[in-house]
Amino acid sequence: MAKTVSIAIDGPAGAGKSTIARRLAAELGYYYVDTGAIYRTVAYFIDLLGVSPKDADGVARYVDELTVGIEYDEAGVQHMIMNGMDVTDDIRTPDISQKASLVSAHACVREMLLDMQRDVAKAHNVIMDGRDIGSVVLPRANVKIFLTASAEVRAKRRTEELTAKGQKVNYNQILKDIQQRDYQDTHREIAPLKMCRDSVKVDTSEMDIDEVVATIKRIVAEKVKL
Ligand code: DC
Repeated sequence: MAKTVSIAIDGPAGAGKSTIARRLAAELGYYYVDTGAIYRTVAYFIDLLGVSPKDADGVARYVDELTVGIEYDEAGVQHMIMNGMDVTDDIRTPDISQKASLVSAHACVREMLLDMQRDVAKAHNVIMDGRDIGSVVLPRANVKIFLTASAEVRAKRRTEELTAKGQKVNYNQILKDIQQRDYQDTHREIAPLKMCRDSVKVDTSEMDIDEVVATIKRIVAEKVKL
């Protein structure tokens, strides 16, 4: 099999990872893998069962009953399949964001999803975004980006994004949720969010999307022969 190219984009919630990665993947003809969506699917499943995402034993007991599938439609949009059911839209709520952050701290969940993520990167050129892509999932990625922005800017963007989708949300609550998720995602024992030594940090607080895409394209072009 020909060697594939992997671009890892890690960073905190709302830094713009998915928007940027989706655009870049379309331009480069790579697969975009949103790994947060995979953790969200686990959280959604656990929640449907009425199990707390903090309950390590409860999560471990039921997680074997879950089959997570990733499919791509003709437009290249990633769909999450939970035991045969498309839950792509159901997993995009503030409640599931919090629960995904909690459920992702358990070893049984991370282990279950590791090979699945690596297999996609083995088979395809990918831009994969998440929290531990450069550090754990694809430590030998060709390019590692750490995308970040101030919590306030991220909360403002997330508020606008959810409002545009017709969800009723409150900026202060979203800011609180983001700060709590930042804390959880950076302080967990296994695969916490952190910048790798070989990552390039891009702070998007003062940039618009076009500027971020151009910046990342420059970084990618320096490291990968496109
Ligand atoms: O990127 P996101 O907001 O959709 O991710 C939801 C949660 O999933 C996030 O708060 C932490 C967890 N996550 C993770 O632990 N590792 C990843 N690679 C991606 C997400």
